[in-house]
Formats: sequence, C-alpha cells, structure tokens
Amino acid sequence: MKEQILKIFQAAKTDIASAKEADLQLISAKYIGRKSELADMLKKVGNLDREKRKLAGKLLNQVKNQIQKLIDSRKADLLTEKQTQAKRDTSLPGIRPTTGHLSPLTLVERELVGIFRELGFTVVTGPEAEWEKYNFDMLNIPANHPARDEWDTFWLKENTSGGKLFSWMKPGVSKNTLLRTHTSPVQIRYMLDNKPPLRIISPGKVFRYEAEDATHAAVFNQLEGLMVDKNINVAHLKAVMLHFVRRVLGDEHNIRLRPSFFPFTEPSFEVDVSCGLCKGEGCRSCHGSGWLELMGAGMVHPQVLRNVGIDPNEYSGFAFGAGIERLAMLKYGITDIRLFLGGDTRFTNQF
Ligand code: PHE
Repeated sequence: MKEQILKIFQAAKTDIASAKEADLQLISAKYIGRKSELADMLKKVGNLDREKRKLAGKLLNQVKNQIQKLIDSRKADLLTEKQTQAKRDTSLPGIRPTTGHLSPLTLVERELVGIFRELGFTVVTGPEAEWEKYNFDMLNIPANHPARDEWDTFWLKENTSGGKLFSWMKPGVSKNTLLRTHTSPVQIRYMLDNKPPLRIISPGKVFRYEAEDATHAAVFNQLEGLMVDKNINVAHLKAVMLHFVRRVLGDEHNIRLRPSFFPFTEPSFEVDVSCGLCKGEGCRSCHGSGWLELMGAGMVHPQVLRNVGIDPNEYSGFAFGAGIERLAMLKYGITDIRLFLGGDTRFTNQF
C-alpha cells in the first residue's frame, strides 16, 4: 500500500510540474478529489488493524496535503509567469518620460544675448546685492538727489556683528548695500576694470520695492548694454536699437527716440517701438499713441566716464537698459508680468 501511495504521489508530482493553469482543477480532482484513488484508499483504511490503520492514515493525509501544496505553488508560479510576460509586452506603446524645458524668460534672454553677440558685444554679469556706490553714486545719482526716488530700493540691513553679509564685501561698510535696482552698476564695474573700446551686455535680475500689478514686479530682469569708443554718437545708438528691436519683434517694427531723463546719460531717451497690434494706428494696448515704451537709453554722461577714469574728451559711448519681461510680453502677447514668477506650469509649459 505504501508503495502504491508513493507511486500516486510521483505521478501527481510530474503532472503538476508540467500543468497549465486550466489543468490544475482536473489534476486536483484526479489525485485528491472525492473520487480519487487516495480517497478510495482512505475509505478502506478503516478495515485495517489498529497499528496499520494509524500509519496508513497518517501517510495518506500527508501525501494529500503535499499534493495540495504542490498544486498551490504551481498555481502561484503560473501567475507570476503570466505577470512577467505581461510586463515584457513589447507591443505596448511606451510611456513618454516628462522632460523639463527652459523658462520663457531664459529663452528670450538667450535670444537677446545671441543678437548682441553677433554684433561683437561681450556678456558680463554683476552681483545682485550691490554697493550703493555703484548702483547710485558713481552713476551720477548722489544721495538726497530727487532722482533716487525713481528707484524704490530694497536696502540691505547693516550687519551689526561687524561680519560680512556677502563674500565680496568689506566688513563694516555693509550699510551701503542694497539689492540692485537696475543693471547699470555693471557698467561701472566693467569700466573700472577695462579700458575702451568696450562693448558689453549684462542680463540679470533687478529689484524694486514697489506694489506689484500686471506691469510691475518687485523682481524682474534687465538687459544692460554699453558701448564706449572714440566718436560714438546717437546714430550708433539708434542703429543698434533698431537692429535689435527688428531682430526680436520683427522687421515690420519701427522705433523712435523720445527725450527723457537719466542722471547717468546725456542726452537721455526712451526707446519706443511701434505697436504691433495696431501697426501704429493707435489702439487700447498702446493707449492710442501707436507706440509702446520699450527701454531707457542715452549717451553715457561725461561725469560717469570721469568717475571710472575714462577721459570724456577722448571717448564717448551709449548705454541702454531693456526690461527682459517687457520684451517677452510684447513678443508673445503676455498681458501680466506676474505670470513669469507665478510658478503656474499651465503658463510655462506653453513655451
Ligand atoms: N537703468 C535705467 C533704468 O533702470 C535704464 C537705462 C540704462 C537708461 C542705461 C539709460 C541707460 O531705468
């Protein structure tokens, strides 16, 4: 009997090992079901005498349990096999990975920088935390001059411990520092270190302590430009501005220089661009004038040149400062400057 039981077990084992999912039900019935050989034998165990009955009963139950276990584990194996096969289904379309992209501001900034590089301008940068001396004084904006009111300033607190707020600061003079209100201090920094001829642009963040609305942000970006050489005049300024504007916004645009005031340029201008919406006819977006204010510009003030040790009788130059957001808004028809730093991906993903 024992032999017979073991034979059945062996047969069950081979059957189960090669069974498909659909076979397992039948195999179970065949080997351990109510009408199986084992079931028959279990019934007959009762006829054996006490000792044998005990042994045979035990063996039969063990084998039955073992077969059940084999069936269960085969079932589990078949399931994982099925799942891994499903994972490897090469006919499924792939999942596109989400990739990052550049912010619209970076895109526009790179475009602007590219245009000036073609004209031989070098890109330089300056610190966002700046000396009062470079942001104002050396640009011909002395303390108490009403022109300072033009730039609502974030002043940096004096570091009372006598230590340095920033690595480039000398200790003890930190009360004269601020978040730069424009990129023009880079002009000073560059002219102190370099002799003309000079041709630079400097993109970067600037900070104004003012209420934000659709056209004003406390943090925005400017592109500063400076060219100093012998015999530079307003015609050079105008030609460079016109080339620049047409490259960014399109050849259909015109510019005009409108007299203005900056303490560090003389004469000073606002550079206006013809309104792209009404083509100069006058519409709501340009307040009926046909022109949109684009940037400040002018001929570098002789006093500024003297401040950095350049002889204004020998050299002259022009400078300009353009708002990068402003250009991006005109280029893409964006109506609210706050969108740039708002962090809303529905906006940034459009670029
Ligand atoms: N720095 C000026 C501003 O922020 C712009 C400007 C730059 C004007 C260079 C003239 C020359 O308003």
